[in-house]
Amino acid sequence: MGMLHGKRILLIVAGGIAAFKSLELIRRLRERGASVRCVLTDAGARFVTPLSLQALSEDRVYSDMFSLTDESEMGHIQLSRDADLLVVAPATANILARMAGGMADDLAATVLLATDKPVLAAPAMNVRMWTHAATAANVETLKKRGVTFVGPNDGAMACNEHGPGRMSEPEEIVAAIESMLAAGRPPLERPLAGKRALVTSGPTREAIDPVRYISNHSSGKQGHAIAAALSHLGAEVTLVSGPVAVADPPGVRTVHVDSADQMLAACLGAGAIDVAVCAAAVADWKMAKPFSAKIKKKPGAQPPALALEPNPDILATLSKSGAGRPALVVGFAAETENLVANAIDKRKGKGCDWILANDVSPAAGTFGGERNTVHLISATGVEDWPTLAKDEVAGRLAARIALHLARPRSAEAAE
Ligand code: C5P
Repeated sequence: MGMLHGKRILLIVAGGIAAFKSLELIRRLRERGASVRCVLTDAGARFVTPLSLQALSEDRVYSDMFSLTDESEMGHIQLSRDADLLVVAPATANILARMAGGMADDLAATVLLATDKPVLAAPAMNVRMWTHAATAANVETLKKRGVTFVGPNDGAMACNEHGPGRMSEPEEIVAAIESMLAAGRPPLERPLAGKRALVTSGPTREAIDPVRYISNHSSGKQGHAIAAALSHLGAEVTLVSGPVAVADPPGVRTVHVDSADQMLAACLGAGAIDVAVCAAAVADWKMAKPFSAKIKKKPGAQPPALALEPNPDILATLSKSGAGRPALVVGFAAETENLVANAIDKRKGKGCDWILANDVSPAAGTFGGERNTVHLISATGVEDWPTLAKDEVAGRLAARIALHLARPRSAEAAE
């Protein structure tokens, strides 16, 4: 049964090029068991047709505030009353401004003004419109009033510019919806309620000089998915993330860092935690002494010698943190050969409880990819998991963590 089984989503599609992604969003929501009803603005109808929305949602599409039939059969109040959650995707600069200003100048704005249901907005606009002070102020106002935001992401835009403004991917919006609806679920579905989790994710950047750095290809997808999955099960999650292109998971406190030293400080500053999952690809070495000014390239001169020293091991530090040690510490072992044997040694060496070993050989191609093949290694043995999407790995791990933390201490000792 889908995670959104029986949930009713009112999707408001405004006028932006990202509206085509809303078609995919409807499909994903319905695959998870939700019903979707659409409100399409006039500008939105320039980008997607009512017919496409109607075909995918298998419901009629609402656009006209003054249609006598709509108002008698399904007025704006009823549209909101019938929904568990309102999603504005794409949320253009224009509709955000109308929401912030309390306008009711079309059906979409009127429904948003009249609703008492939670609202999620997935902004999509040109980077300059997103960074404009007017939009920033509108977003701030809406956040204060309780509107939740997912994205926008950084990247190339349809207008040939680059930067924040791309609408989140349908999967990210679905995750945000699940997390918002999860908050209202009964305790049995939230087995990690009252537990505090810490997750590290993404790469670190170690400065060589003010403009250059040492880093790696970690995308942060797996770590971010784990933070979202733990939050979905009710945990209060702190995510400490290196520089990544993926959006902050909704409902998760995300601390952004650059270097391994900063990542360690943020982890140690997270307070008492029950479970730590170290999924970050922390750079093994940093510059012993980063250059304070940009290294000059002089014709004919030798390239500079870079003296490196080891970074702190965050996983080992958390695993060996004495009395305040989390009840469960989980690490990752990305290996290209002798995967399981190396990971078993790594678990012992780092002092963590579980290691998820994943094959990152070029053939497996999991760095930056969508899927992951992992083995769960604990003191009791090795469990092989099938190849799964990264959010499925995250869901499975979160469920295992919930099971483990629910056990009495005596069962833990026997493990
Ligand atoms: O030693 P290696 O990098 O292979 O270990 C991988 C595991 O250790 C991952 O869980 C990673 O997040 C963690 N790690 C860490 N700090 C380091 C190096 C690795 O937390 N400096």
